[in-house]
Amino acid sequence: MKYYFYIFGCQMNEADAEVLAGFLVNMGYSEAESETEADLILLITCCVREHAESRVYGKLGELAKLKQLKPSLIVGISGCMPQQEDVAEKLRQRFPYLDLIFGTHNLPDFPRLLAETEAHGGKVLEIVDAGEVRENLPRVRQQSIKAWLSIMYGCNNYCSYCIVPYVRGRERSRSPEAILAEARELVGQGVREITLLGQNVNSYGRDLALGTPTDFADLLDAVGKVPGVERLRFMTSHPRDFSDKLIEIAARSPVVCEHFHLPVQSGSNEVLSKMNRGYTRESYVELVRKLRAAVPHAAITTDIIVGFPGETEDDFRATLDLVREVAFDSVFAFAFSPRSGTPAADFAPQLGKTEKSLRLKLLLETANEISLARNLQLAGTRVEVLVEGPSKTNSERLTGRTRTNKLVHIDAAPGLIGQLVEAKITRIQTFSMLGEVIGGER
Ligand code: SAH
Ligand code: SF4
Ligand code: F3S
Repeated sequence: MKYYFYIFGCQMNEADAEVLAGFLVNMGYSEAESETEADLILLITCCVREHAESRVYGKLGELAKLKQLKPSLIVGISGCMPQQEDVAEKLRQRFPYLDLIFGTHNLPDFPRLLAETEAHGGKVLEIVDAGEVRENLPRVRQQSIKAWLSIMYGCNNYCSYCIVPYVRGRERSRSPEAILAEARELVGQGVREITLLGQNVNSYGRDLALGTPTDFADLLDAVGKVPGVERLRFMTSHPRDFSDKLIEIAARSPVVCEHFHLPVQSGSNEVLSKMNRGYTRESYVELVRKLRAAVPHAAITTDIIVGFPGETEDDFRATLDLVREVAFDSVFAFAFSPRSGTPAADFAPQLGKTEKSLRLKLLLETANEISLARNLQLAGTRVEVLVEGPSKTNSERLTGRTRTNKLVHIDAAPGLIGQLVEAKITRIQTFSMLGEVIGGER
């Protein structure tokens, strides 16, 4: 029996897919090379923006035809989309061929749900609310060099535009012991780079029982001290909760990488307040100043939403100014997408599609110019690259990332995959650079 996954959305879904694959392998399944040879197809979905949902609907349309050709095929949908209120039921009505519908919170029940689906010939729908953290779930890792390590689930922030707290539930932290044990296990398997994962890692530990005084800074420190961890990253940090203690530990730890993803969302205080972000433009800039003072050459990346309801020309200009002032290494920019059930979906006035696209284009032009300028500072320098695998666009090249998370292509040579090499940067582009290997494994 073979399974095939379509994974949409963020690293949470990537991490969930690893668990689903773990269950399936335990049940005797193996991964199919393509959807046509699969006995089971699972869509692991995202609903953070309308575009993410449209891609899922497109795929569901295509799969209807495949299911007609091969009625024994089991098609299931899970992830964030069906976890939204009433959506699972709507999916069942609109796509009656779906055999299995479940959400993010009953992932650990997947083996039972799949057994029921097989026994009943489909038509299983089960959505539950967030429960306690479950440990010891099986997992098939997608990569052997780098790994995600979930430290917490859910989000309590309720940014006014965001669906995530509704589909991922309240914040639940894993125990430091479970996290450290997993870090040791990963190192034992040969993993060289770990990324601690959560929607807002800075609030890690707040929900843990009293008597476990571990905050995120302590946790980062502890994971960084696990013997064999060579690179340590974390995402996502909320700028409101980035403490001085965390800056100090990030600066002091030799393994914490010099890259911080700090979503700012907007450069206008008015908009930030309507977004319920809990910080101002000034406090954000101050945080970046402190980080750069403590961690020289740190790369700072961000997420920005343009066209938030009521965003004026001046608000938008303030965002462009902020992008120039901070000089982000890269910006992930999105046009505001109203999500049903979130407060901002009902804010007025909503901006038109054309206006939002125009602002998105202007923002990206500015951001890309700055990315290129930041990257140009690396021309001719020597950087450490963790070589991850073949380049997706050129089979004669390998790709890896610097500690600052920049993509570097190098000439392919046997034995380099999985190695930390020293490379000299020879050519710069906006989204990647070329390097020449000058030193091998240390
Ligand atoms: N927990 C993370 C990431 C959440 S989703 C954080 O707090 O930053 C990733 C990004 O999607 C967000 O940072 C935001 O920029 C964007 N996003 C979320 N909801 C959106 C919406 N309704 N419309 C457009 N972009 C959105
Ligand atoms: Fe969404 Fe805000 Fe939570 Fe991030 S912090 S997941 S943007 S609600
Ligand atoms: Fe999307 Fe869910 Fe992540 S909505 S962004 S996959 S948490």
